[in-house]
Amino acid sequence: MSDIRIHPVPDGFAANALIDADQYKAMYQRSVEDPEGFWSEQAEQFLTWFSPWDKTLEWDYHKAHIRWFEGGRLNACYNCLDRHLESRGEQTALIWEGDDPNIDKTLTYRELHAAVCRFANALKSRGVKKGDRVCIYMPMIPEACIAMLACARIGAVHSVVFGGFSPESLKDRILDSDCRVLITADEGVRGGRQVPLKANADKALQSCPDVHTVFTVKRTGGEVEWNPNRDVWYHEEVAEASTDCPAEEMDAEDPLFILYTSGSTGKPKGVLHTTGGYLLFAAITHKYTFDYHDGDVYWCTADVGWITGHSYIVYGPLANGAISLVFEGVPTWPDASRFWQVVDKHQVNTFYTAPTAIRALMREGEAPVKQTTRSSLKLLGTVGEPINPEAWEWYYRVVGDERCPIVDTWWQTETGGHMITSLPGAIPMKPGSATRPFFGVVPGIVDNEGKLMEGECEGSLVITRPWPGQMRTVYGDHQRFIDTYFKAFPGYYFSGDGARRDADGDYWITGRVDDVLNVSGHRLGTAEVESALVLHKAVAEAAVVGYPHDVKGQGIYAYVTLVKDIDPSDELRQELVDLVREEIGPIAKPDVIQWAPALPKTRSGKIMRRILRKIAANELDSLGDTSTLADPGVVGELTENRANR
Ligand code: PRX
Repeated sequence: MSDIRIHPVPDGFAANALIDADQYKAMYQRSVEDPEGFWSEQAEQFLTWFSPWDKTLEWDYHKAHIRWFEGGRLNACYNCLDRHLESRGEQTALIWEGDDPNIDKTLTYRELHAAVCRFANALKSRGVKKGDRVCIYMPMIPEACIAMLACARIGAVHSVVFGGFSPESLKDRILDSDCRVLITADEGVRGGRQVPLKANADKALQSCPDVHTVFTVKRTGGEVEWNPNRDVWYHEEVAEASTDCPAEEMDAEDPLFILYTSGSTGKPKGVLHTTGGYLLFAAITHKYTFDYHDGDVYWCTADVGWITGHSYIVYGPLANGAISLVFEGVPTWPDASRFWQVVDKHQVNTFYTAPTAIRALMREGEAPVKQTTRSSLKLLGTVGEPINPEAWEWYYRVVGDERCPIVDTWWQTETGGHMITSLPGAIPMKPGSATRPFFGVVPGIVDNEGKLMEGECEGSLVITRPWPGQMRTVYGDHQRFIDTYFKAFPGYYFSGDGARRDADGDYWITGRVDDVLNVSGHRLGTAEVESALVLHKAVAEAAVVGYPHDVKGQGIYAYVTLVKDIDPSDELRQELVDLVREEIGPIAKPDVIQWAPALPKTRSGKIMRRILRKIAANELDSLGDTSTLADPGVVGELTENRANR
């Protein structure tokens, strides 16, 4: 702790900031002393309502019952587009930067509105109605945002599936939420390579007979298979469609979208967000965390397949009438200077990315950064995983020239928006700490008995009362919502993360305390990877843990026990890696597979992951107590095999 440098808000930034330290304190205090009053005012200020709500908040964390602004009527798409037409119709809404540095495009609010209305009508003409689920499996092209907004416009519930997921993962998600319509593209393009989205979708749909329509955007013109009973070209469908499509009046608590995320057990769950509270929370956090001023060019490098893309490429920025940059490519292609070239090219003011990208670029040295000016940058942000102080300092010094504050934003798919983050004009920065709660967020740290601790402490991070962006249920399984988030510490929302609060009251996220991995900022359940591995007929048992990885934050370490009489080999290792890739997607590929004659288990048969984590991290001197194992000899075998793996 003592060697952590505290960075004050840079003077140049402070002069123009929306919120200073005193304002933060006053607003925060009001937000927790009178949450209903505070959030009502913000809801009126940030959103346009067709009619007002009956009740600001209703909640019961024992039943996981959470309602904000119920009875209020609004439409998320209307809030993101229509209401801006008069004041900023000709202002850029989206800047699209293609994978190829020579390709880009902009859409004004008026153009985006027209495109969304057209596609909304196309959806309607194919039978999509309010409440229907629509799956979106797209590359990072404007049509991905258009598709989301078009669903929101007609009250359909979108379920975006990250384009890097496999056909198998896509299929599971389509079936779980019973989507009948899929929107995809012929191919995606990333880092100069084609991603066969339509072919993946075709494979997934072999097991999804209820999907009656597939809209395909022509991105590359690559060859695709065509099922004339099911497949339609996006460009043909919108060509004839009208630009007149009234926005459906939705209740604040009507679902806006489902987004699947991994947990410690079972298959990924469909996190359900509703309309009013989510949109308000996305908008207010976008404005204050990023200190967004009208006309700023704002760039979040996430994919719309993740919550970060939902809240901070589409809904938050557009609700605020911002200019949002959508990037199709990757940080290192054509070379490691790409991010900063895009910053100069589009005069980006705010840049928001993941620590894994920063660490990857840091390895390439300062030259690729320093060949650009980055003079437009005012603010930097990070999200997705803890940032190590070394990467933080590099980001601050090399990328931001010590001029731009960094906001380290802690939040989750479930929280809808930022929960703990420094507000850039108000809170001094501590590299590695997300610092303070956002307005209306009341975090707590509990001990193993679920008792809230005071002052300086470390334990499990909970949130003690609702905020508008909180997820409302697991789609189709409310009991799972209760069991996952409200059972461990009754009366509180349990985040699954550990945290420490320091003497100043600042929060430090220490990482997941459950069996969830965070690989390059992507969330994965160890159980998912294990289920994929045991599909192989040579595998008897598998246990997966995370281990520290220089660039990815966490790498995937799999212990595999083979069935009797099967010998380990490099070919088998490759088959297993390929299998995980096929089942889940490239992000879930194990980095290390260690053959394990047996796994360390308690006498009741529970795998002792604590020991597996220590071996994976090569912390062989601190394996802890192994006396409760059914067969303590297993540990010796594993530590020996580690050396020879
Ligand atoms: O462990 C925390 C980590 O990412 C998890 C949430 O993952 P996901 O739902 O995929 O959302 C990622 C984007 C919001 C959290 O439980 N995490 C996220 N942001 C941070 C973080 N860990 C430390 N610091 C952060 N800023």
